[in-house]
Amino acid sequence: MHGTSSFLIVANRLPVDRVGEKEWRRSPGGLVTAIAPVMQRRNGAWLGWTGAAEEELKPFDDDGMHLIPVPMSALEVELYYEGFSNATLWPLYHDVVAAPVYSRVLWDAYRAVNDRFARAAADAAAPGAVVWVQDYQLQLVPAMLRRLRPDLKIGFFLHIPFPPAELFWQLPWRNEILEGLLGADLVGFQRPGGASNFIRLCRRLLGLQNHRNEILVDGRTVRADAFPISVDFGELDQMVREPRIQARAKEIRAELGDPEHVLLGVDRLDYTKGIGQRLKAFGELLGDGTVKPGEAAFVQVATPTRERVAEYIRLRNDIELKVGRINGEHGMLGSQPITYLHQSYSKAELAALYCAADVMVVTPLRDGMNLVAKEYVSCRHDLRGALVLSEFAGAADELRQAFLVNPYDIEGMKRAMIAAMRATPHELGRRMRSLRRRVATHNVDKWASDFLTALDAH
Ligand code: ADP
Ligand code: F6P
Repeated sequence: MHGTSSFLIVANRLPVDRVGEKEWRRSPGGLVTAIAPVMQRRNGAWLGWTGAAEEELKPFDDDGMHLIPVPMSALEVELYYEGFSNATLWPLYHDVVAAPVYSRVLWDAYRAVNDRFARAAADAAAPGAVVWVQDYQLQLVPAMLRRLRPDLKIGFFLHIPFPPAELFWQLPWRNEILEGLLGADLVGFQRPGGASNFIRLCRRLLGLQNHRNEILVDGRTVRADAFPISVDFGELDQMVREPRIQARAKEIRAELGDPEHVLLGVDRLDYTKGIGQRLKAFGELLGDGTVKPGEAAFVQVATPTRERVAEYIRLRNDIELKVGRINGEHGMLGSQPITYLHQSYSKAELAALYCAADVMVVTPLRDGMNLVAKEYVSCRHDLRGALVLSEFAGAADELRQAFLVNPYDIEGMKRAMIAAMRATPHELGRRMRSLRRRVATHNVDKWASDFLTALDAH
C-alpha cells in the first residue's frame, strides 16, 4: 500500500499544537522554527503528533502545510515521549548534564511508537517519495521504514548533538539505535563531530567499514555528514524593519524603566540551556557592585516545556528560587533586576524583544545548534547589540564574532557580559556585521537544500 505524498517530513511533533477545542498554535522548539518555512515553500506533507494524548484526528491543512496526525495514548506520552526520548536520550546526548534513566519499559514504548510512525509514513508516501525523518525521538524509523518501503529515498536529521563514543556506549540499546539510523540513505548532524562520532561507533560497535563519510551496510552505502541548521534570516530581517516592531521594542525598554543595558535570555526552560549559570553571573555582578541597581535589566523568557519530567520540575523550582533571591536582594520598589516570564510569545513579540536587547545571553551547557542566537543576529540590521554565546552551542562554530563563553566559568561569563555591555558602537558594528553575513548566507533554505541535494545525489 502507498499514499500520494512525494515529499514527507516525519517528526515527533506537528508544527502546530492544540490549544483549547478548535485552535492551533505554533509548537515550541528549533525543529519547527527551521522546518516550517521549508515546508511552506516545498508543498509537502508533515506527519507527527498533535501534542495531546488520546486524540484521533484526520489529516488537515494549516498555515500552508498538509498535516497528518499520528495518535499517542497517555501511557505512550509518558513512556516514549517523557520517558525514553526526554529522560533517557535527551540527557545522554547532551553530555549527561542530568543522569539518563535506563529502563526496558521505556525502550519498549520507544520501539512501539517508532513502529507506528514508520507504518504511517509507509502509508502516506508515494512510490519513490523522499521521506525526511527528524530528530532523536524517531531514530528507529529509518530502518523500519526501509523494511516496509524499500523504494523510498530516506533522509534523517538529528537536531541535537550526537554524543562521543564514551557516552553513547552507556546505552543498553546502542546497537539497535545505530541500526535504526542506518536505514537512511543520508544521516545528517549539526556538527562534523557528530558525524564522526556516529561513523566511529558504527565501526566499533557494528564492525562496519567506511570510506570517509560513506558507511557500507548490507551492500548499500549510507552517508553521514554535517548540515548546520539555520533560521529564516530574510523573514526576520524584514519583520524587524516594520515600524510596529520598532515601536514595540521602544515600549519594552520603557516598560523596563529605560535602563542603560537590557540583557535578554530566550529559551525553553531546559536544564541544558545554562539559565541558572547566567542568572548567577548576573546576580554576582549586582552583588559586587560592578553593575549598579537600575543600570541593567535582565529579561529571561523561559518557555514551558516537558513539564511532567522530573528534571524539568526540579529546574523550574531552582530557577524560580534564584530569580526570587536576586530580585529580593537587589530589587527596589517598582523595579526588579530580573524580569522572568514563563510564557510563550508570538514571533513578532520575540522579534521586538530581540530589538530591545543590548546583550543577548545564550549560554547552553550543550546545544545542537541554538537558533535563538541566529534569530537575534537576523534581527539586528541596526548593527547594534552584542551576542554572548556558549562555546558548547553548535552555533559557536559559525558565530565566531560573538562574545564566546564557557558557561561553567562564572567569572568568565561575568567578564563577557561586562565586555558586551561596555563595547563601543564601532566594535559592536564590526562584530555584528560579520555575524549577519554568516547567517544571511547560511540560512534555513540553504540548510534544507544542501541536505536534500545530497540526499537526491545519493
Ligand atoms: P530548542 O530547539 O532546544 O528549543 P533553539 O534555540 O534551537 O532551541 O530553538 C528554540 C526556538 O523556539 C526558537 O525559534 C525560539 O524563537 C523559539 N522560542 C523560544 N522561546 C520561546 C517563547 N517563549 N515563545 C515563543 N517561541 C520561543
Ligand atoms: O531539537 C530540539 C527539540 O527537541 C525538538 O525535537 C523539539 O521540537 C523541540 O526541541 C521542543 O521540544 P518538545 O517537542 O519536547 O516540546
